Amino acid sequence: MKLVFATHNQHKFREVKALMPSHITLVSLTDIECFDDIPETAETIEGNAQLKADYVREHYNLPCFADDTGLEVTALNGAPGVYSARYAGPDNNAEANMSKLLANLEDKDDRSAQFKSVIALSSRGMEELFTGICKGEIIYTPIGDQGFGYDPIFQPEGFTKTFAEMSQQEKGEISHRGKAIALLLEYLNAWL
Ligand code: IMP
Repeated sequence: MKLVFATHNQHKFREVKALMPSHITLVSLTDIECFDDIPETAETIEGNAQLKADYVREHYNLPCFADDTGLEVTALNGAPGVYSARYAGPDNNAEANMSKLLANLEDKDDRSAQFKSVIALSSRGMEELFTGICKGEIIYTPIGDQGFGYDPIFQPEGFTKTFAEMSQQEKGEISHRGKAIALLLEYLNAWL
């Protein structure tokens, strides 16, 4: 079965492809040559995931899933949340996003946070959402050079290292996206 994962982010794509069984051929937006500016104008993580998945199914007529992720920080009332990519500006600069977050947390004692990933599956007859959450805390300075985004400042619960110090496999086993993908696969296996 050919399934589109609606992303150009190669880090994400590799993380997710490593979790897919061999009977699913996973392709990215780059693979299907979709370079459209897909709208991400919803006000929720769920809404944005759905928008992306529906866009690809409608325009390319291929079964598709899309993920949208937000980092929700307790002391910041859930920010940056749905605005995680553009927290410090429109260019999705990971360094600037992390710096802004660390600055905003400077006077806060509560460093708890969670990543929330929502995967929307859109295929003929199938419209489903799957949610994965990974709880942890924001450390004081970035550590590690693996992964992407906020990984260097996020330490998942029960671990003494950040996501950016973990291998792709290690992160995938406990991450928000890994958990949402596990639910997606459970669902697809019941269908296929
Ligand atoms: P997206 O909606 O999945 O593109 O995620 C929005 C933003 O959240 C990204 O631009 C990253 O900054 C951040 N993000 C998403 N997933 C992760 C992750 O697994 N680790 C760290 N940051 C992430």
